[in-house]
Amino acid sequence: MRAPETSNIVPVDSGSPDPGSRIPDHGSRRIGVLISGRGSNLQALIDAITDGSLNAQIAIVISNKADAAGLDRAGAAGIDTLVLDHRSFASRDEYDAAIASEFRSRGVSLVCLAGFMRLIGPRLLDQFPQAILNIHPSLLPAFPGVDAQRQALDHGVKISGATVHLVTGELDGGPIVVQAAVPVRDDDTVELLSARILIEEHRLYPEAVRIILNGGWRLEGRRFFRVAE
Ligand code: GRF
Repeated sequence: MRAPETSNIVPVDSGSPDPGSRIPDHGSRRIGVLISGRGSNLQALIDAITDGSLNAQIAIVISNKADAAGLDRAGAAGIDTLVLDHRSFASRDEYDAAIASEFRSRGVSLVCLAGFMRLIGPRLLDQFPQAILNIHPSLLPAFPGVDAQRQALDHGVKISGATVHLVTGELDGGPIVVQAAVPVRDDDTVELLSARILIEEHRLYPEAVRIILNGGWRLEGRRFFRVAE
């Protein structure tokens, strides 16, 4: 089922979102993707667009690493790519402003972090209010930051999973859009658990992008609600 071409990407300040107001979103369903490595979640988005289950276009994939395998995935799909090495910029602000400018110039309305191993600062957040998504391999707020699967195993939880959330200034701390649970087995290793979580990630990320782009959602504080589309 094709979704209506609407969006309710609206401005937020992290404390009191104003569900009544909107920012211009260029009327577009154009996504900008940020990666640092393998790019399997990028591939999941590409595949969902290709098979018609996600009505969107990836305008550009930007990596902070020149050797990110995800760049090859994007290239194979005919998607523009750009390497912006954070080490070539004097500050996080300058780096984030450069990313924001690249996305803006291509009419991007939604930014997807897909294994992007950099914190997002205000220069990028302010340009895309409530319009940056991240995927994380745990049931947030448990196990934010790096090595989430190892953290889950070390803690001894019986259930972990994956989360897609809106990005705020707090690391892995923004409003949760969708989650999926994955059982932790007694004989799990980091690799085995990561692989099972990744299967859920690849299902979840296109779903979350679809929900955001289709509109029909609102925030109350940090609670994300779907409403009739
Ligand atoms: C995924 O596990 C994602 O949840 C996390 O980083 C990993 C990226 O994997 N943020 P890939 O580059 O998408 O394959």
